[in-house]
Amino acid sequence: MKLMLALDVMSKNEALKIAEETKDFVDIIKIGYPLVLSTGIEIVKEIKNKTNKEVVCDFKVADIPATNEKIAKTTLKYADAIICQGFVGKDSVMAIQKVAEEYGNKGAPKKVIMVTEMSHLSAVEFLQPVADDLAKMAKELSVDGVVAPSTRPERLKEIKEIVGDIPIISPGVGAQGGDLDKVLEILGDNDYVIVGRGIYEHNNPKESAKHYKKLISKN
Ligand code: C5P
Repeated sequence: MKLMLALDVMSKNEALKIAEETKDFVDIIKIGYPLVLSTGIEIVKEIKNKTNKEVVCDFKVADIPATNEKIAKTTLKYADAIICQGFVGKDSVMAIQKVAEEYGNKGAPKKVIMVTEMSHLSAVEFLQPVADDLAKMAKELSVDGVVAPSTRPERLKEIKEIVGDIPIISPGVGAQGGDLDKVLEILGDNDYVIVGRGIYEHNNPKESAKHYKKLISKN
């Protein structure tokens, strides 16, 4: 199982410092609007140069196909992967997959990761009732990964059963209170545990990343 650092800090210096400090224990780095809107998309290049890790842009893209295509082009010019929402429907996700195919190559494929159920409390209001259908769609479209919640292990398990061998990217451990032991029973070698605040808000991010890496590597 792999560790994905959610680097949701708002300053370039802090981002680069934490990325460098934790790089020996982190497998891949995820950034999103907090960092990119504060610093610009070029931060992707700087993180990659500093760490030699793949960078995922978590933009939870959710627009019409024509707009998704533009967002994907700008993002995948820099990033290795992009996260999109599935609830906007198949054509919107496929527009991003088309860009990923165009921009990637065998040595450096570009990946499209789709959200099924989110990890926060209110995800049960609108998203959870359709999350199994979203997982089925993710499978049908052969996306490169799906996001599913560590905060609800029973749902994580159900979604994993639906998507089969598609890697799961799972947020919710640490600050959101997800139970890592339960998550480790469900996820496999190709899956990712996402930890953000549990690492970057820790008084020693390097030690925290090391701790999480050790815990997930036991399985
Ligand atoms: O700080 P924390 O460990 O809670 O960070 C979790 C990360 O995963 C954040 O970047 C958040 O935006 C993201 N995320 C999430 N739930 C989802 C999808 C992404 O918490 N369903």
